[in-house]
Amino acid sequence: MKIENSVALVTGANRGVGRIYVAELLRRGATKVYASARNPDSLADAISLDPARVVPLRLDVTSAAEIAAAAHTAADVTMLINNAGALSFGGALDVGQASIDRDMAVNHDGLRDVTRAFTPVLEANGGGTVVNMLTLLSFVSAPGFAAYNASKAAAWSMSMSLRAYLRPKGISVVNAFPAGIDTDMLAAVDAPKDAPEAVVRDVLDAVQAGEEDVYPASASDVHAAWRADPKQIEAAFAEMM
Ligand SMILES: NC(=O)c1ccc[n+]([C@@H]2O[C@H](COP(=O)([O-])OP(=O)(O)OC[C@H]3O[C@@H](n4cnc5c(N)ncnc54)[C@H](OP(=O)(O)O)[C@@H]3O)[C@@H](O)[C@H]2O)c1
Repeated sequence: MKIENSVALVTGANRGVGRIYVAELLRRGATKVYASARNPDSLADAISLDPARVVPLRLDVTSAAEIAAAAHTAADVTMLINNAGALSFGGALDVGQASIDRDMAVNHDGLRDVTRAFTPVLEANGGGTVVNMLTLLSFVSAPGFAAYNASKAAAWSMSMSLRAYLRPKGISVVNAFPAGIDTDMLAAVDAPKDAPEAVVRDVLDAVQAGEEDVYPASASDVHAAWRADPKQIEAAFAEMM
C-alpha cells in the first residue's frame, strides 16, 4: 500500500512507538494522521509534528463508546495502526487476574474491537491496511511477562483470522513482530533494545512492499533462529527474568 496520500489512524500515539509512527507517516506523505490516545491532552508532542495534518482523537481501545465515536469521526481512514499496548510484569503462577484481564483487554480485545469498528470505514474508502503491533513474544514466551505473552499470542491468532476475513473486502492485515524496543514499556528491563525509529521504518517499508508479516530491526535474526530451531529459542527465552 502507498503511504503517500493515505489517511492513517494510530492508537496509543501519545508516546513510545505510536508517536514515532505519527512522525514517520507524516514524513512519508500521509495526508492526515489521526493521533489517538486515552487522554488527548497528552498528544501535544504528536500534534506539534505538523498541526495541519495531525488530528487528535480520544480513544481508549477498551471503551466501546470511544471506539464507535472514533470510527464515526475518522471516516476517511485508509490505514489503521493498532499500536496501543499494555504489559504487566509477573510469572504464570503469580501474576494477578486483574493484570491478565488488562493485558487481554488492551492487546487482544482492543485490537479486535477497533479493527471491527473500522472495517466498514476501510471498505467504504476502497480498501486499505490494518497494521497490528504484535511481538516476538506472540510465539516465544518470556516467563516474567506471562499475561503479556498470552495476550499477544491471542492477538496473533486473532490477527490471522482477521486477515482471512478482511482480504475479500480489499483490506490487508500486516502483522509486526518486534523484539525489545527502547520505550517506557521496557524501561525497567535491562536488555538490548531496538530504537523505535528503526522498528517503525521497517514496518512501514513492509506495508509499502505489500508484505504480510514483518520482523523489524533485530527481530529478523531472532525469527530466523526460531525458524531454524524453535526449541533452542524457547530455552533461551526461558532463561530471561
Ligand atoms: N517496547 C517493546 O519492547 C515492545 C516490543 C514489541 C512490541 N511492542 C508493542 O508495540 C506497541 C507500542 O509499545 P510501546 O513500546 O510504545 O509501549 P509504551 O511506551 O508503554 O506505550 C504504550 C502506548 O499504549 C497506550 N495504551 C495503553 N493502554 C491503552 C488503552 N486502553 N487505550 C489506548 N491506548 C492505550 C499508552 O497510552 P497511555 O499513555 O494513556 O498509557 C501508550 O500510548 C505495543 O503494542 C507493544 O506491545 C513493544
